[in-house]
Amino acid sequence: MNINLQYFGQSCVLIEFGGKKLLFDPAISQNPIASDALLNALNPDYVLLSHGHGDHSADVENILQRSNATLISTYELVSYFGEKGYKGHPMNTGGKWNFDFGTVKLVNAVHSSVLPDGTYGSNPVGFVIWNSETCFYFAGDTALTYDMKLIPVICPALDFCILPVGDNFTMGYEDALLAAQFVECSKIIGCHFDSFPYIKIDHQKAKNYFEQDGKELILLDIEETIEL
Ligand code: NI
Ligand code: MN
Repeated sequence: MNINLQYFGQSCVLIEFGGKKLLFDPAISQNPIASDALLNALNPDYVLLSHGHGDHSADVENILQRSNATLISTYELVSYFGEKGYKGHPMNTGGKWNFDFGTVKLVNAVHSSVLPDGTYGSNPVGFVIWNSETCFYFAGDTALTYDMKLIPVICPALDFCILPVGDNFTMGYEDALLAAQFVECSKIIGCHFDSFPYIKIDHQKAKNYFEQDGKELILLDIEETIEL
């Protein structure tokens, strides 16, 4: 496995997968601890959007306009950006599709969703993405849910997953450890933490919590890249 993952704060990650650049939940301009200059350097092939909230969707239009990327999201969110003239591939929870970089399956997320202008934002989703070599799970904003136990049953074995750990608006790191157990994965990249006071976490405490269960919690700095 040789996957580059770059973190841009909150839930925004860029993952090079199957020869394509996949950008998840771009909202750099809304993040008080990330710099807007990062935005212009991004040139993804696909933008994947988990739900409508501004801390995930704020830069979708800007990036689609500049990069000509394809949006992969729910029917409602792809329709919303489609009306503005952007191309996308609509999906919904439980469905999968084979793209030129691999297979994407939409899975349940327990959260809420509305776009910043008040438009209905569809049920929130997570993404499980795989090809013949690698499989990973991007949970989006979600509570811990028993549905996560279905993922190892219906998808290939996970190599890593990206889970929210900041608590208050999503699960915190204690529930995220249970989520890691449910999806049977020991390498977890944390997201949705530290962007504002409600979701500040103690990094060492969170990492130790995973370590005592033989799992690794990776908390990246903004702009930091890791190879997986
Ligand atoms: Ni949200
Ligand atoms: Mn959020």
